[in-house]
Amino acid sequence: MLKNTYLFKLSGSHDLEYGDLIPIEESDTIPFVIRRVYYIYNVPSASSRGYHSHRNLNQVLICVHGSVRMVLKTPDKTEEVILNDPSQALYIGPMVWREMHDFSLGTVLLVLADHHYDKSDYIRNFDQYISEARKYFAGEADSK
Ligand code: TYD
Repeated sequence: MLKNTYLFKLSGSHDLEYGDLIPIEESDTIPFVIRRVYYIYNVPSASSRGYHSHRNLNQVLICVHGSVRMVLKTPDKTEEVILNDPSQALYIGPMVWREMHDFSLGTVLLVLADHHYDKSDYIRNFDQYISEARKYFAGEADSK
């Protein structure tokens, strides 16, 4: 996977007769303190969302119903991930460009985040993103 991203499995209770349940617990399941939860739904299939990066935000995305195609980018790489399983979670850390495409009908995308909404944390211009992300990832390499 790209830097600052990974997929992980959420464990829970699965029962053919009674159905499935997945608990989400801070620190046990989610690698940060959850300060904000939001969900995206009613997205027309022709619409795409995202097209931004965050400078300093950790998020976990869970497609609790339906499916969405995530396009993730860092300055040197692009990766696609289909989220279509409520027991699968996608971690996205700082400085990863994300786009959301191809929402299927009825999709609900749950997002957990470690900071309150902060407009100034967004980078919405791709050229600006590339410029800041190059410095960010170069700094990371230097500090290793
Ligand atoms: P945005 O993050 O741009 O959505 P997406 O990346 O899915 O396209 O947010 C869309 C709008 O919702 C924008 O006007 C800001 C607002 N918003 C909040 O008020 N609080 C939040 O926690 C989030 C994520 C968005």
